[in-house]
Amino acid sequence: MNMYVSNEQFARKLDASELGIQDFKDAISVIGLGYVGAVSLACLSSLGHRVVGVDVDEKKVDAIAWGQSPIVEDQLGELLTRGVDNDLLSATTDIKRAIWTTDITFVSVGTPTAEDGGCDTRAIEAVARSIGEALAVKDSFHIIVLRCSVPPGTTLKVMKPIIERYSHKTAGQDFGICFNPEFLREGSAVADFHEPPKTVFGVTDQYTARALARIYASVDINPIVTSVEVAELVKYVDNVWHATKVCFANEIGRLCKPMGIDSHAVMDIFVQDTKLNLSPYYLKPGFAFGGSCLPKEVRAVTHLADHLGIDLPMLDALIPSNQEQVRQALNLVKRTCARKVAIMGIAFKPGTDDLRESPILDVIAELMKSGIEVTAYDPAIQPGPHISQQFDYMRHAAPHLQTVVDALPEFLKETPETALADADAVVVSQNIPALRSALASKKEEAVVVDLIRIPNNAPTSSNYVGIGW
Ligand SMILES: NC(=O)c1ccc[n+]([C@@H]2O[C@H](COP(=O)([O-])OP(=O)(O)OC[C@H]3O[C@@H](n4cnc5c(N)ncnc54)[C@H](O)[C@@H]3O)[C@@H](O)[C@H]2O)c1
Repeated sequence: MNMYVSNEQFARKLDASELGIQDFKDAISVIGLGYVGAVSLACLSSLGHRVVGVDVDEKKVDAIAWGQSPIVEDQLGELLTRGVDNDLLSATTDIKRAIWTTDITFVSVGTPTAEDGGCDTRAIEAVARSIGEALAVKDSFHIIVLRCSVPPGTTLKVMKPIIERYSHKTAGQDFGICFNPEFLREGSAVADFHEPPKTVFGVTDQYTARALARIYASVDINPIVTSVEVAELVKYVDNVWHATKVCFANEIGRLCKPMGIDSHAVMDIFVQDTKLNLSPYYLKPGFAFGGSCLPKEVRAVTHLADHLGIDLPMLDALIPSNQEQVRQALNLVKRTCARKVAIMGIAFKPGTDDLRESPILDVIAELMKSGIEVTAYDPAIQPGPHISQQFDYMRHAAPHLQTVVDALPEFLKETPETALADADAVVVSQNIPALRSALASKKEEAVVVDLIRIPNNAPTSSNYVGIGW
């Protein structure tokens, strides 16, 4: 079965019962017996699989073959010893023999930083050549599972072609290939294997997805199945996020210390908010932040840090990063070459008439400056004295928006239809309920620039462009 898995449609939970998982144990080879591979090897054998470990490092192979851990890792030594004693676990430097005598191969060789700062995939390429040569003389269907942390494209554009070239076989037809990121933490890797934060399969065929689901069934009955590229990037995004959290917490610590404030007391309260702070909220790509609080408070905190003589490079980068998102939106609109642009939603979010530091106003100001005609619709906003009062409030933060506020009574329309009339491009910055039917009537005529990911919109249509997708 050869099935393309689209990023959007196939990212879903795989219900093991749907897969008809039986009590069947595959024979698994694990190539690369470092921190990831040695743990996988030991844990897979503890689940009852016959496993063969492979490494170029003879010392590691010897240690593991004797049931001894080559690294310091809780419970690893015991599991390796048990695997060897139960005749389930062996280790070798002979990669081809390991592939011939197993059904599935996990690849967990090192991917260090390359000379240019990128990812060094040379070990993966070397292993792919050996796998290809081994598969050239193996009749049965074999599955290769890449577990290394790699840039998107490595599995299908680097590893797969090498295996195909050396095996003279075709992926999806003669062998399966997939990506299965590793989320273990050193120090608690064995415990994490048995209780993973999530299990992700990046696959291109259902047979391979089923085989992986069978292996992981006893530790995670609900793996997340997605495309190979999404799975590859998820691992990087996870680690960048963890690094972001560490730097954020440390910058808060640096801010607190000179003021004599206990940073742990602050963060203990911070982490208790699982509605807005530690939650999916604010974590979907979209438009810039704005409103009366976020920009103002970020400026106030960085100003405070300056005053205290502290460096907070991450927090200092927030306003420039936000401005870059406004610039991206403006570029998307300009690239449509529209002469008339309709903006759907001008407050910084739906359900408020607060225009203060709404980032779409910056886009409107730039469009007006370029001589592009702008109309807008926002069900919450009526021009009037309170709009001028809001502008007074942000006079120091955004003096350049005066022209937009002055022109508001003219460009703000009463209905979405009037705003959309004759528009060549529509910028959607809010999910306005009346927008859908109005947009449907403009389908062929105007390019839709989506800053919010309109629910259920097809990101593939030719007159549609999304800001981060
Ligand atoms: N260490 C972690 O906590 C962790 C967690 C998740 C993902 N990862 C990723 O998993 C991968 C492996 O990480 P690691 O920390 O286990 O690396 P490691 O350096 O500890 O181990 C890699 C092993 O691969 C072996 N190797 C290299 N070339 C080989 C070849 N051609 N054939 C056979 N063996 C070969 C090396 O001898 C070494 O034993 C990396 O991509 C890493 O980014 C690591």
